[in-house]
Amino acid sequence: MTQMAVRPAGHGDGAAMAVLLAEMDRFYGAAGTEPPDERLRQISEALFASPPAAYALLASETPGWPVSLGYYRPMLFPGHSIETPRLTLRPFTPGDFDDLYAYQSRPDVARYLHWDARDRAQVRQALDRQCGETALDAEGDWLTFAVVWREAGKVVGEVGLKWLSREHRQGETGFVFNPDYHGRGLATEATEAMLTLGFDNMGWHRITGSCDARNHPSARLMERIGMRREAHFIHNQIVKGEWAEELVYAILDHEWKARRPSAAPYRHLG
Ligand SMILES: CC(C)(COP(=O)(O)OP(=O)(O)OC[C@H]1O[C@@H](n2cnc3c(N)ncnc32)[C@H](O)[C@@H]1OP(=O)(O)O)[C@@H](O)C(=O)NCCC(=O)NCCS
Repeated sequence: MTQMAVRPAGHGDGAAMAVLLAEMDRFYGAAGTEPPDERLRQISEALFASPPAAYALLASETPGWPVSLGYYRPMLFPGHSIETPRLTLRPFTPGDFDDLYAYQSRPDVARYLHWDARDRAQVRQALDRQCGETALDAEGDWLTFAVVWREAGKVVGEVGLKWLSREHRQGETGFVFNPDYHGRGLATEATEAMLTLGFDNMGWHRITGSCDARNHPSARLMERIGMRREAHFIHNQIVKGEWAEELVYAILDHEWKARRPSAAPYRHLG
């Protein structure tokens, strides 16, 4: 399919754009055709200018357009990848087994996680689940990305977003990386893309992250990207048979936008 780079428009337009893109895919998918280049150009320009204009364009060619103009449901169907300076974030595929096994099987990776180092069968099961985590359309859903470091041509880790609350516009982020690729800022770069996606595309107000209090690299990462430590819970949960301490971090939409206004990833339809 024709590739089109789309940069999210201004503040507050993200959720609207996600819906527009999904509707466009649905419209052309149902017709069994691909949008002609000229159509893509028009819609792309309208998206840059204003989502309502793009919405009107799409509505003009869709009989029985189901949603009234100006009503946007925050939801996300990223059937595309996200490019950051060094990384490509894309949905997991069954072919990612070896790269996933390389880190999910390591005890040092699982040390502060809620799961133990996985054997091959467990990684296959995790990969099946992660391959399906491709949309946020209900509270509790996880959207998971395989993180490809383009220089290595490998999946070096995973990042994700969880939709915590529609009413309160809250989400959570999480990340796990292969230790062979730690210490280069790759996890930081991928997690920054998650914040941009959550705030710009989902229209969230607050994004949280949490880690075991002994997981210093994870805490440092969240502090590096501007998240604030809001809680240090003592023995609030039992992890791997032991009482654990948990740190909770968070950042608000305006704090993120003030900090990294240029961090918006390019989104590719295709
Ligand atoms: C949490 C985790 C992803 C952090 O990995 P990481 O390698 O420290 O994170 P990054 O890839 O962002 O690299 C940051 C480190 O590289 C350094 N770095 C080098 N180049 C950098 C760059 N261009 N940008 C940012 N940091 C850079 C930073 O200084 C930092 O090192 P420091 O923490 O010693 O100061 C990793 O420890 C991990 O996967 N752990 C196992 C799973 C896990 O516990 N996940 C978290 C669950 S809550």
